[in-house]
Amino acid sequence: MAPHLHEVSGPRSLRAHAAAAGLLVGCAVNPRGLDGEPAYSQTVADQMNLLVAENAMKWGPLRPTIDTFDFRPADDIMDFAARHNQQVRGHNLCWHEELPTWFASEVNKGNAKEILIQHIQTVAGRYAGRIQSWDVVNEAILPKDGRPDGLRKSPWLELLGPDYIDIAFHTARLADPHALLTYNDYGIEKDTPEDTIKRGDVLMLIRRMKARGVPLDAVGIQSHLTAGDPMPGAGLRAFVRECGRLGLQVFVTEMDVNDKKLPAAVEERDQAVAKVYQDYLTMMLAEPNVTAVLTWGVTDKYTWLDGPKFGRADGRPERPLPFDSDYQPTPAFFAERAALDSRAARLSAPVRQGDPYAPFRPGSARGGAAGPQSERQ
Ligand code: G3I
Repeated sequence: MAPHLHEVSGPRSLRAHAAAAGLLVGCAVNPRGLDGEPAYSQTVADQMNLLVAENAMKWGPLRPTIDTFDFRPADDIMDFAARHNQQVRGHNLCWHEELPTWFASEVNKGNAKEILIQHIQTVAGRYAGRIQSWDVVNEAILPKDGRPDGLRKSPWLELLGPDYIDIAFHTARLADPHALLTYNDYGIEKDTPEDTIKRGDVLMLIRRMKARGVPLDAVGIQSHLTAGDPMPGAGLRAFVRECGRLGLQVFVTEMDVNDKKLPAAVEERDQAVAKVYQDYLTMMLAEPNVTAVLTWGVTDKYTWLDGPKFGRADGRPERPLPFDSDYQPTPAFFAERAALDSRAARLSAPVRQGDPYAPFRPGSARGGAAGPQSERQ
């Protein structure tokens, strides 16, 4: 029997359990759902203390022409968050995808630096002091492009060389000194040879950025996982701890669990997907510097995974998220909530010398992960 929504709202919601653990919990959102679909907006309002725009803050949607910005969808998300006492992550200020149609014909080596700086100043400046963290550069590493530094041969690299990364972070810091500046990437989770090489290149990138004094505060691990794949483990844990030693927070920024390798039976799929949520998030939240968890969407109804490119060969809708397409909590919801509780349990364990969680406890100087403006009572 489907659990009733009162079993998962109020004190039983993800955001209530996250607050008890000094954590941020969130999801990717679309303004259309927030404005036009009560079940969608209610679920997001009830469950999340952090939102990220799935698309509205990317170059394409923001920049209809080289001289104009369209902030309406992004503003709608900011307003919704303010109304529901939620924080917002910015995604993203510099990426090789979702570039506007005019980009290739208008941007060249002569004007690329000015255009990148003007974009970041305008976008990050507009929301300065209201953004918890920005994905300043997204997905800049691609080992198969064959460069010794592992950098992806993106339009930004072609136009500006590796300096584009430093330019983006320094500009973001000036535009919004409050936001935690984040490098975000995927395919760095598992102990497979491919993920291990990419994770090493990401670590090399962030170490060199820190050595150059580039303002970097956090790393985003997208966590697009697939049930039936090898579970992330020692390699990722070591990476997260190295980030901690570099003074960096770590965010799980885009979690979902693809069920394309699983048999069709919904019950079986949901249990296997929930097991991945439970094991992965419990492992990640055992690390003190992991301070936020976001899923890439809230309901299976709008997941990007559906369709021939990423979805199930049998064409059945994917079930990768904490709420199904009828906004009923799935076993993944309870697994995610239990993982948040595992962190709270660690916080309530007797404090021993050199408490690693001290900086991330609710009420600590950092006020838990969320920072001073977290769950205002
Ligand atoms: O809004 C336009 C619409 O006007 C047009 O009619 C339609 C048909 O072309 O396209 C619509 O834009 C699409 C947009 O999603 C909104 O639906 C873009 O074509 C499509 O490319 C875009 O896909 C997004 C993709 O990033 C590329 O930006 C997905 O929704 C989004 O889930 C996905 O998210 C990425 C993260 O940003 C980075 N990490 C991986 C993750 C999954 O790929």
